[in-house]
Amino acid sequence: MSATSKVVSGKGHLEPTADLGREAVEEISSQLRRLLADVFTLYLKTKSFHWHMTGRHFRDYHLLLDEQAEQIFAMTDNIAERARKLGSRTLRSIGEISREQRLRDNDRDSLSAEEMLSQLRADNRELTRFLRLAHEVCERHNDVASASLIEVWIDETERRTWFLAEVVGSN
Ligand SMILES: [Fe+2]
Repeated sequence: MSATSKVVSGKGHLEPTADLGREAVEEISSQLRRLLADVFTLYLKTKSFHWHMTGRHFRDYHLLLDEQAEQIFAMTDNIAERARKLGSRTLRSIGEISREQRLRDNDRDSLSAEEMLSQLRADNRELTRFLRLAHEVCERHNDVASASLIEVWIDETERRTWFLAEVVGSN
């Protein structure tokens, strides 16, 4: 079967639109779904900490986290649409996010400002690791477009981690 012909996978219709094989598309889009779930998780956690921030640096941290949340949210549409460009599916629901997410939620009350910032620093570091894993899969299949988007997201994620590390270090 040629790489560009229409195929149906066991998981539903899959019609590769790129010149990548079916196996490549399935592997890359699975990475993209997991990344999207992690990015939504990090977005909501960053927003939650923006809302629940307290302490004498409230204004600075509240604003920093809003800025970071905005950048994180901007990734979501591009991750989802990259999967659609490859002819694959993406996330459909909150339930699917909870099944795919690797970063963990935090429902605890009364976290200190330092605990919130340290946790976001760790989560952003972890996200960089997941982005590198996805990048390896894209490179293996020569999907340069996904790889190049991921490179930008790694740079942005490392920047967020840097800011959080500087702030946590100064406490
Ligand atoms: Fe706000």
